[in-house]
Amino acid sequence: MRLPATQAAVLRAASAEEYREVDEIADEVGEKPETVTGAAFALEEAGLLSIREESEETASLTEEGEAYVEAGLPERRLYDAAIEAGADDSSVPMGEVIGRSGLEGAEVNIALSNLARKGLGEIDSGALTATRDVGEDAEAAALSALASGESVEDRETLDALARRDLVERTERSVRSVKLTDEGVTALMEGLEERDTVGQITADLLTSGEWREVEFSPYNVEAEAAEVPAGRKHVLRRTADRVKDVLTGMGFREMEGPHADADFWINDCLFMPQDHPARTHWDRFSLEEPERIDELPEELLNRVESAHREGVGPDGEGYHSPWSEGMAREIALRGHTTSLSMRYLSGHAVGELEPPQRYFSVEKVYRNDTLDPTHLLEFFQIEGWVMAEELSVRDLMGTFTEFYESFGITDIQFKPHYNPYTEPSFELFGHHPETGELIEIGNSGMFRPEVLEPLGVECDVMAWGLALERLAMLITGAEDIRDLHGTLVDIEFLRNAEVIY
Ligand code: PHE
Repeated sequence: MRLPATQAAVLRAASAEEYREVDEIADEVGEKPETVTGAAFALEEAGLLSIREESEETASLTEEGEAYVEAGLPERRLYDAAIEAGADDSSVPMGEVIGRSGLEGAEVNIALSNLARKGLGEIDSGALTATRDVGEDAEAAALSALASGESVEDRETLDALARRDLVERTERSVRSVKLTDEGVTALMEGLEERDTVGQITADLLTSGEWREVEFSPYNVEAEAAEVPAGRKHVLRRTADRVKDVLTGMGFREMEGPHADADFWINDCLFMPQDHPARTHWDRFSLEEPERIDELPEELLNRVESAHREGVGPDGEGYHSPWSEGMAREIALRGHTTSLSMRYLSGHAVGELEPPQRYFSVEKVYRNDTLDPTHLLEFFQIEGWVMAEELSVRDLMGTFTEFYESFGITDIQFKPHYNPYTEPSFELFGHHPETGELIEIGNSGMFRPEVLEPLGVECDVMAWGLALERLAMLITGAEDIRDLHGTLVDIEFLRNAEVIY
């Protein structure tokens, strides 16, 4: 049989009686373990070898474990001191035993808890009675065995040492190979080696020799070392995906200031100036500059009138104070609906004729309390559709389509209240790990009190969805702080997928 040189060498080194480890064969044939593994896979495919994979556990001492090999385990030192002090005859005050043992600081507590666990003695009213004839200490024996490079089979003791952080266990997978009957036959019939090329080189190309040589096939299923490369953050990737999906649904992107006039953030939205969300508790206001100068005068008047007198023949205003000064104050936006107001008013990209669809995926700021589902800054997926005839069905259908592109097919709607939409809906989705229903957005149809001052004469449905919550549903993260911040697991960032 004709085989590539390394395969032939591996086949010769393999045994028909027993499995031999790849590392051992690699040593023998003078090749790298990866090369031997590659050859072994090819031989397995050809039916000449069988491969066995086992995971092997190795235990090694931690720094603390090593220290105890020298000095002795704290509890044993305490015990020995107790015996010396005659505590196996009658109890000896703790202070005396500890003094004799030379233990200090944290070691004393370690000694006491393990002394009790191992039944080396008992403490009663501040005095210690030592147990007689306790025999050899399995943990100490295991520690010194590991220190001298021997392996320890006693699982229970290893578990105990691992719990104490005295040993560290690592698992590695070990591959071993054995000849199959066909492999034996092939060897007996004789092998002919052939040189194969694993990698094309410039020389092979320029000389034209590549035409003659035989290439060894790649085994694309072989396990390779992982190379963690740079990668966009999972939240940014979710945002990119959201933008792709909404653009695909015909939406255009809005942009605008993070710090904005209260006018755009709240007044345009028919939020009464004495609304609790507008107190300084909930917002981050700006000191410098404190106020905005340029606001469209006419719009300002129409918004003021909507607040004071309402809109339409049956309209009722709020009958509560309204001041232009407050409308001009600047704060970090608590929602990106400020952008929707700027666009719908015609002051961002000019007057808009229906139908129109706009969105943004931008940061908002709220003075909330940090918890598993709340951050002080987060991303909002803002959006709106302007058209002649819109109903709640259109709104629900848009969400269904949007979330379906992330594999989320069971969103739920709950009636809600917003000062600026009627009707209004909150959106909920099931967390894939906990099954819990979590709020993922808020939406509704803008009221005439919002649209009329803006000069919009048709229907507008709108929403604000939480990007982080969407990312939680997609990735299964259970705490928003698992997505970004100091607590995030680097493996999660390396592996989390957002594309459905
Ligand atoms: N501004 C709302 C929020 O932050 C979201 C929303 C936008 C609701 C537009 C309705 C219409 O929760």
